[in-house]
Amino acid sequence: MPKKTIDDLGNLTGKKVLVRVDFNVPLDKKTGAVKNDRRIRGALPTIRKLLDAGASVIAMSHLGRPEKATPDDRKNLTMDKVAAAFGTLLGRPVKKAADEVVGPAVTAAVQAMKPGDVVLLENLRFDPREQKNDAVFAAAIAELGDAYVNDAFGTCHNDHDASMVAVPAALKAAGKPRAVGLLVAKELEVIDPLMLNPKRPMIAIMGGAKVSDKIAFIEVLLQKVDKLFIGGKMTYTFLKARGVDVGSTRVADEEVAAAQPLLVEVGKKIVLPVDSLAAKSDDLTQTQVYEGAIPTGYEGVDIGPKTLAAYAAQLKTAGTVIWNGPVGWFEQPAFAGGTKGIAEAMASSPATTVVGGGETAQAVEQFGYDEKMTHVSTGGGAFLAYVEGQKFQSLAQIDDRV
Ligand code: 3PG
Repeated sequence: MPKKTIDDLGNLTGKKVLVRVDFNVPLDKKTGAVKNDRRIRGALPTIRKLLDAGASVIAMSHLGRPEKATPDDRKNLTMDKVAAAFGTLLGRPVKKAADEVVGPAVTAAVQAMKPGDVVLLENLRFDPREQKNDAVFAAAIAELGDAYVNDAFGTCHNDHDASMVAVPAALKAAGKPRAVGLLVAKELEVIDPLMLNPKRPMIAIMGGAKVSDKIAFIEVLLQKVDKLFIGGKMTYTFLKARGVDVGSTRVADEEVAAAQPLLVEVGKKIVLPVDSLAAKSDDLTQTQVYEGAIPTGYEGVDIGPKTLAAYAAQLKTAGTVIWNGPVGWFEQPAFAGGTKGIAEAMASSPATTVVGGGETAQAVEQFGYDEKMTHVSTGGGAFLAYVEGQKFQSLAQIDDRV
């Protein structure tokens, strides 16, 4: 059943709309400044549309994991810098409602809002009730708004977050409408048909470090795709599981065990790199390309040139490409060639190209190819979980369009 979108919220003139966004953005460790504003930009179309319709917006998000942070790091997790970045991108002032998440100061700030105003609540996770789906906390937030919009795709898989589940439930109890925002609607519009009816051949590229975290995702992909290209650190996990010497590349035993059951697909759907760029462990400036085994003293840092050429050739004639996980240590310019090359091949392919969020999105953006992809998801864990077919309680809360 299709979900209500912001177009189904009726007349919004003078209404206060609670918008759950995912402004969990990377911050500069020293200054606390927003390092990448992609998630903020992603929510702007929804915010602008609501404001143009005469509403005021109470935006809310979590930022980082304050429950695990040191007191100093926690100071950097207030929403002040995010509010400033949000205001600059939106082109109008955005105030943080108060230093508390809910309470009298927030209620007063919200009561003073006029159409066109935007406030941002303090980091939701500063209140421990947020991650306990607490009904009292949720009711206090729900009271602030006349309607609820979920535009936080990156957090949609968090069933325990009050702002994602208990808050819309409290709005329902009060007879107030709940809808998805334009960003969430777009994510679902792109990902749903991708898994149901993809243009073929369909190729997935998987990189990153851990196989164990992505087992369910890989298993789902294997049922759908024609080929699954492996890259990144997990290459060495697969190679080690096949008995190939990976030199000084660090591969955990539990990762090798996780890869073991997937080996039957190697040579069928799963394609492993034929060569690797390896760097000397005690002097990373010394590099060498190896086909097969890597000698002790060297560690794999990127896919090799033959692999990149073979992968790129197939990506250019694919119908659908889905990519999650960088294929090399792309933060180091000398080891970024594979990841950049994959991004380039996808960007110039006529295929439907979808990039799963997190580091892969960061890489694609860093190399300037984000606008050339069909879609770059704002979800990291949420993207994986949605493709795996997990049902999100956050989305179940949203009213069906009747
Ligand atoms: C993300 O960055 O994946 C989301 O914002 C969720 O954050 P979390 O992993 O801390 O729950």
